[in-house]
Amino acid sequence: MKYIEFGANKQKVSKIALGCMRIPELNVLEIVNLLETSLDAGINFLDIADCYSKGKAESLLGEAFSKQTSLRDNFFLQSKCGIRKDPDLTYYDFSKDYIISCVEGSLKRLNTDHLDCLLLHRPDALMDPSEIGEAFNKLLSDGKVLNFGVSNMNPMQMKYLKSGLDCPICANQVQLSVCHTPMINAGFNTNMDNDPAIMRDGGILEYCKLNGIVVQAWSVMQYGFFKGVFVGSPLYLKLNSVLDKIASELNVSSQVVAIAWVLKVAKLMQAVIGTTKATRVIDSAKAGDIELTRKQWYEIYLAAGNELP
Ligand SMILES: NC(=O)c1ccc[n+]([C@@H]2O[C@H](COP(=O)([O-])OP(=O)(O)OC[C@H]3O[C@@H](n4cnc5c(N)ncnc54)[C@H](OP(=O)(O)O)[C@@H]3O)[C@@H](O)[C@H]2O)c1
Repeated sequence: MKYIEFGANKQKVSKIALGCMRIPELNVLEIVNLLETSLDAGINFLDIADCYSKGKAESLLGEAFSKQTSLRDNFFLQSKCGIRKDPDLTYYDFSKDYIISCVEGSLKRLNTDHLDCLLLHRPDALMDPSEIGEAFNKLLSDGKVLNFGVSNMNPMQMKYLKSGLDCPICANQVQLSVCHTPMINAGFNTNMDNDPAIMRDGGILEYCKLNGIVVQAWSVMQYGFFKGVFVGSPLYLKLNSVLDKIASELNVSSQVVAIAWVLKVAKLMQAVIGTTKATRVIDSAKAGDIELTRKQWYEIYLAAGNELP
């Protein structure tokens, strides 16, 4: 497993992170097993959010921490806030009081006294950076959150947010997989009169790389917006044949090659895997040990249906 330095204290975190959005499919003992398997495989980073299954994912993780008390301290624990699910409406809320109350709820559910990182989950068009800065300062000085980051934000939104913060933005969590590459396509097609040339993200990857912000890729195995897994899918025959070929050359599985493809996109990159199966955790962790060549990376990109000008 390869590790990167994260946040103010340069904590050593694994390039493969375990996403916990789907753990409500498991019982507490199965979650303990998933966490122990992750640690054994070198994965020391957990990603969750207050809104996953309306708090149930955090509660289950908290129960797993209580069941096996050594677990919490062995992980870098990241949660998210800002997607507000009122009984009658779901919307985004980055107001100071809401951020602070979300963290307090997360800490209670997770049975812990602090989060190692808090992400703002999806940009709130009504955000006021100085108000968010006040919330972050309070959470930091109370010792409730040690680092802060964002998710699904473009560079201008990050710059705007930064104008009100005293602390750095450590990470940006965004959708990225072999089959979801708008952030990459636009760069290849600069100034072309075609669809991939449309820059939808404003240069997220370049902005994060320039500013030392860790890119965290979510849904690394999916195509579309949770449409399904591309490995083994008849919709991606060419991609699968290239993944299989490179997998057999490297003596790993196709899924490992697909995750390694994501990891190569930036030096400060983490792949947030979402499996609920211990066997897949063990396998996926191998992506942290291999390095694709530039040629393999491009071959996979093209096999996913992309073109280069
Ligand atoms: N910031 C955001 O807006 C955002 C949005 C979505 C997710 N996330 C984070 O990212 C994490 C990962 O997202 P995700 O769950 O969509 O990631 P994912 O790893 O792309 O998808 C996981 C799903 O794919 C299945 N799967 C994985 N590998 C497979 C394979 N080789 N063959 C067949 N099925 C396979 C898993 O089934 P099994 O469980 O059976 O293995 C699971 O249902 C989440 O847990 C969450 O922490 C963040």
